[in-house]
Amino acid sequence: MLKGKTIVLGITGGIAAYKAADLASKLTQAGAKVEVIMTAAATKFITPLTLRNITHRPVVTDMFELASEWSVEHVALAEAADVVVVAPATANSIARLAAGIADDMLGTVLLATKAPVVIAPAMNDLMYSNKVTQENIKKLKARGFNFIEPEYGRLASGKMGKGRLPDTPKIIEAIEHALGQKRDFEGKTIVVTAGGTREPIDPVRHIGNRSSGKMGYALAEAARDRGAKVTLISANVSLDAPADVTIIKAPTALEMKQAVGEAVKKADVLIMAAAVADYQLEVIAKNKIKKESGRNLTLNLVRTPDILGEVKGHFIRVGFAAESENLVANAKKKLTDKKLDLIIANDITKTDSGFDANTNRVVIINKKGKAEELPLMSKREVADKILDKVKELIK
Ligand code: PMT
Repeated sequence: MLKGKTIVLGITGGIAAYKAADLASKLTQAGAKVEVIMTAAATKFITPLTLRNITHRPVVTDMFELASEWSVEHVALAEAADVVVVAPATANSIARLAAGIADDMLGTVLLATKAPVVIAPAMNDLMYSNKVTQENIKKLKARGFNFIEPEYGRLASGKMGKGRLPDTPKIIEAIEHALGQKRDFEGKTIVVTAGGTREPIDPVRHIGNRSSGKMGYALAEAARDRGAKVTLISANVSLDAPADVTIIKAPTALEMKQAVGEAVKKADVLIMAAAVADYQLEVIAKNKIKKESGRNLTLNLVRTPDILGEVKGHFIRVGFAAESENLVANAKKKLTDKKLDLIIANDITKTDSGFDANTNRVVIINKKGKAEELPLMSKREVADKILDKVKELIK
């Protein structure tokens, strides 16, 4: 997996920089070409000469002293990389990467590369748990960067805490995972819907549902990380917008129908994970309905348009089925009624799957009716499994 791969290894100025020598050595022994970039601070902890002797490659320590064989554009390293690793990554380097600062070679390469990125934070536990550091990490994760959690153990201060750089085998495992990350949707346009619509009753009240949007957002992020151009049509959620994804807000079923109709004109795939209301108010009250003491309120509801069933075009159509009983049978009926290529059935009565859970337990059914039951896994893993199936259909 590592043989012949070009691995750009960024080393930043933390006490764990000495461990990067072991990482560089193991990667080189595994047959990878290791191109080391050191920040100025890193050279205070370990010498470039050490890394040069380990990797038998020139070491880049300065933006303007390019190793001879790299062409003048200082993004040559970024383009050559199969994966970029930053180990150890200090709080300062993570903050600079999150801000997109590119006044040194490492920042430039991280901004310019299209290759998967693996970041291994290592620092004092209080710095790691600091809100700002965690926000920077969240921002970089939203951009699709892979992170390896630091480990609990003895820190430079002599104290025990969470901030130690993981051992080399763990970092190599993360690099191999990142290398396996496929960019198999490069050039494809994918439309994903997410979240629960809210159908207004009056200016104050609405009929909603328990969708958090996590499943749809996981699909959008997974598709983006695999190279797709993603439009995420989002109903009502309280999730951070994923980076590098076009977000369109669509709070009601009618607005979602409009947005989907527009977005699919250029789409290769439509995946509807949104919980779209089946009913809307026949009449939306202009003013707040006053509660007459002791009297009931009757609402007249009418069907909403079946977006997925009615939307037309030459794109792969993937739907979800939110069921509380007869999961596969009900999902198969929707598969045929809506003429879908794939339907993802999930039981929404469980706490660890369906609405708002971070995990999901789904059955993927193709248009021949073949059902594949997946075990409980994270919604991001479910998303990648769904995309694997979509990939087979696109071929
Ligand atoms: O958002 P989370 O909290 O992560 O929860 C995820 C989820 C449970 C919402 C998701 O996994 C899911 O099941 N989404 C579909 C919910 C839903 O509306 O299912 P349904 O069986 O009622 O609808 C079937 C399909 O038709 C869905 O793809 C839906 O988007 C679509 N639909 C439904 C109604 C409508 N008027 N138009 C539609 O296109």
